[in-house]
Parts: sequence; structure tokens; C-alpha cells
Amino acid sequence: MEWATTTLGLYGVGAAALATSVVTLRRRLDLSQAKHRSLAGHARIARRLAAFVPFYDYDETRFFCSDGTPAAIAARRRAGFERLSALYKARFAETIRRTAEAAGGISDLQFTDAYRVPFQYSRHVRAHLPAAAFVQASDGVTVIDLDGNRAYDLSGSYGVNLFGYDFYRDAIARGAARVRELGPVLGAYHPLIIENVHLLQEISGLDEVSFHMSGTEAVMQAVRLARYHTRRSRLVRFCGAYHGWWGDVQPGIGNPLPAHETYTLKDMSEESLRVLRTRENIACVLVNPLQALHPNASAPSDSALLDSTRRARFDRQAYSDWLKRLRAVCDERKIVLIFDEVFVGFRLAKGGAQEYFGVRADLVTYGKTLGGGLPIGVVCGRRELMKRFRDDRPADICFARGTFNSHPYVMAAMNEFLRYLQTAEAQDRYRDLDRIWDARAAQLNERLRAEALPVEVANMSSIWTVCYRQPSRYNWMLQYYLRAEGLALSWIGTGRLIFSLDYTDADFAAVADRFVAAARAMQQDGWWWSDPALTDRSIKRAVLKEMIAHRLFSRR
Ligand SMILES: Cc1ncc(COP(=O)(O)O)c(C=O)c1O
Repeated sequence: MEWATTTLGLYGVGAAALATSVVTLRRRLDLSQAKHRSLAGHARIARRLAAFVPFYDYDETRFFCSDGTPAAIAARRRAGFERLSALYKARFAETIRRTAEAAGGISDLQFTDAYRVPFQYSRHVRAHLPAAAFVQASDGVTVIDLDGNRAYDLSGSYGVNLFGYDFYRDAIARGAARVRELGPVLGAYHPLIIENVHLLQEISGLDEVSFHMSGTEAVMQAVRLARYHTRRSRLVRFCGAYHGWWGDVQPGIGNPLPAHETYTLKDMSEESLRVLRTRENIACVLVNPLQALHPNASAPSDSALLDSTRRARFDRQAYSDWLKRLRAVCDERKIVLIFDEVFVGFRLAKGGAQEYFGVRADLVTYGKTLGGGLPIGVVCGRRELMKRFRDDRPADICFARGTFNSHPYVMAAMNEFLRYLQTAEAQDRYRDLDRIWDARAAQLNERLRAEALPVEVANMSSIWTVCYRQPSRYNWMLQYYLRAEGLALSWIGTGRLIFSLDYTDADFAAVADRFVAAARAMQQDGWWWSDPALTDRSIKRAVLKEMIAHRLFSRR
């Protein structure tokens, strides 16, 4: 009898263990199905592989024919490159000189300079088309370098510049005048912060506000609060989405440590919703609505432009539907839904992505333009999520402070920004916004197509990205032709063009003329030589072969 009971007991334990491992296995499978198949979707593998990518670069001959182009085309490319180089060195002489002088002491400059183009070409490009990273003035939609050259600004100052540089210059000056009497006193608040809070509550539709110094910090705090209140550890981000440079939101390449508490899931995918439905340990889901322009792809940078597979297409309806489904699952599972609107906030609509896509979040982070031209990060959230202590457990707190939080000068510039948002003029700027920018993008694409230039733009309102329509290893050269035509881009090149809303039709027409002229010159110089054997696949394969060969046979 005793033996029978023991045996039965063992069977019971075995069955329970089996059931548990089947469930665990099922969950593992669900998780792996919810990962995007690209390397961006597999942070751990990407980090491991990155350690194996060897450095190598092309000598002066191979630089011009790495795609197997005939000698005549390579010679055309070389002539074009030399012409461009002479133009750069003459036109940007002082700006280049000062940049080179400063680079040794500014690590950021060394980094951005090294990553403007794919590394195989970087040394030669830097030697002949050196970076000119200084400007001395802005004027309307243009910036002026140290040589006095004026260029249309398409960098948008990383997205900060929404209403035009003149607006922010004034916001900073007017704001500074209003808090001058207080000066840079920290800790205690200037009273104008009260209006900032009211306006942010109204805009976000949320109860409370906290002020930080950057978008990265705002995201950190939002995630921390979600973990604190849910008592769960995992954060979900979507493949490719940028949320600042804090380790937990950058689990792949770029982070010296693995981010153990982060799941990177496929954007706009049922499989990801299944993971959210079945895992118990998920505290929050972070959404960067900018990904609607290129779901599952990383922020497009020309340093990764090895071929022409960069794609982008914005579908507002599809993304709204996705966010609604995400909202429903988060409600069901009591997962905190965080919209990271540091980039897109105020750019799409006054009420940001929440208004634009018609979905409410539990916490929203803002930054960039909200500071009225000064550095800022803000979290808005539901009262119960924003609370940093527990009434019944005095030692259980979620600590978050910062010396420069609520700096009076920043609060004052922000106040100018928020007050401006209330004006009829600002409301007017949002009217027909998408129609205007969609029409401008369509117009430019039509001109590019009419001249059979293998390049096109895709846009989400005033945020644009350049895509390439035929396989090529040299698309990254376009940034240098654009610069020569007087168009200023940020260091990531043609991946991101950001327009301010003070671009008039005439300004845009000038940009479009220059863009087409740049693409035309690049075409004429032979960089877009094509051949049936040259496909994106063949390019990828060739690069992989080069890497393996260097890994195996190079001594470096
Ligand atoms: C969506 C998003 N979140 C967070 C950040 C980080 O903001 P910051 O650079 O102010 O730290 C950025 C910056 O580009 C961003 O685009």
C-alpha cells in the first residue's frame, strides 16, 4: 500500500514536472517566434557577432570598384570624387581646419566622424572629404559655417528644431529675461513651472509630471516607475526602436553589457502580443512611434548603408490599429504602456502621438523640442504610476532626483514653447501638416523618377528618410553630393532628414532643386552603375566573404 502510494506520488510529481517543462518550452518558443529575424531582433547574437567583425578597408583602387564595376566607370567615380574633394577643401577650408584641430580633444567628434560611411570606405573618405562640423550662425531655415557658406538645414538638430531656429532663439532669450531675477537657483522652483505643469497635464491628458535633463533620463525614470509599481522586472521594446543610450533600452550593439531584463520583440506582430499575454514578468512596453515609418528597422544611418535594402513606408492606419491592440493587451495584463515621444512629441500634433494615433498611454516621455531650445526630458503619467513612495511602507521608495531638474532657465524656455503651442498661429501650423509634407515628398519623388535617378524619399510628416531603388554599394556618397549642393545633414547622413515647420514652399523648392542636382551629379559620376549580377544579396555575400577572409587571414 505504502509502495503504491509512493509510486503514485512519484508519477504525480513527474507529470507535474513534465507539464511545467512543456509550459516553459511553449513560452520559450513563443518568445523566439516573437523575435524579428534580423540581427536587430537578436540583441545577444548581434553583440557576439559584432565582436568578430574585423576591421579592413579598401585601398585607393578598390575604393572605386568594390562592386566590380568596369575600369571606365571607376575612372569616372575617381574624377567625380577628386572634383568633390577639391570643392570641399576650397569651400569649407576654415571649417575643416577647425574641425580637425578640435577632433583630437572631442571624443564625440571622433566617433561621429568614423561612422559617417561604411567602415571599409571611411579612411579614404575622411582623408579627402573631411568633416566640417562647425557652424557659426543660423538664419531662418539655413545654417552658416565658419567659411560663411549658407546651407539649408535638414538635420533638424536631432528633431529639436520644430518651429524654426528663430523661434527657439527668441524662446530662450524671452525665457531667460523672465527668470533673470532668480538666476540659476536650483532646488526651489520658479513659479512659472506651475503653468508648465498645467499645460503638460492638459496636452498629455495625464495627472502628473516630472522634469529631467534629457530624453534618456525621462525614459529611465518611466521604466523605473513601471518596475516599481508592477513589481515586475522585464521591459519590452520593439526591434529597431531607439530610446536613448541607457543600457536597458539598448540591448544590442553599442552596449558594453548585455541587458538581461529587456525583451526585444517584433513590432506590429501578433506573436509579440502572445508573449505579452503569457509572460508574468513584464513591467512595461516601450513604444517609439517613429518606428511607424520603418517598423523593426534600426534608426537608418549611412554607416550601415552597405546595399540598398533600406526600406520605409508610413501607414498611419495600420500603426494606429497596432497601438490599439497593444493597448488592449496591456490593459488585460496590467502592463504599463509607455509612449516615448521624445522625438515625435509635438511634431505630429499638439497632443503628440497619443492624439495623432488615437491611443492613450499610461506614461509618456517628452524631450527635445519641449525644452524651447534647452536640454530637457519629461515624464507625464497617471497618478498611481508617478508616485515614488508607498504610504504604508516608508522605506520602499523609487528614488529619482537630479541636480539640474527643473532648472529655471529651462523651465522658462519650456514655458515659452508651451505658451506658443496655445496660440492660433501654432494651431495653424498643425493644420494640413501631413498633406503639406506628403505633397512635398511626392513632388520630389516625381522629379527623381522623371530623371530616372534611383533614389526616393519616404516620410512621416516632416521626418524623412532616403531610400535607394537599385542595388548599390555607394549610396552613402549621396550625403557628400548633397552637402556640395548646400544641404546640411546630421552625421547619420541620408538616413534622417528633419524639416522644421518654418520651411516655406519656396524654401522647399530650393531644397528639392538641390537634392535633384546632387542625385544627378552622383549618377553622372557613375556611383550608381548597375549590372544584373549586382543585387543586394550579392553585395551582402561579397561583404561577408571579405569579412571572413580578413578574420581568417589578416594579422590585425
Ligand atoms: C525616442 C527617443 N527617446 C529618447 C531619446 C534620448 O533623448 P536624449 O538624446 O535627449 O537623451 C531620443 C533621442 O534621440 C529619442 O529619439
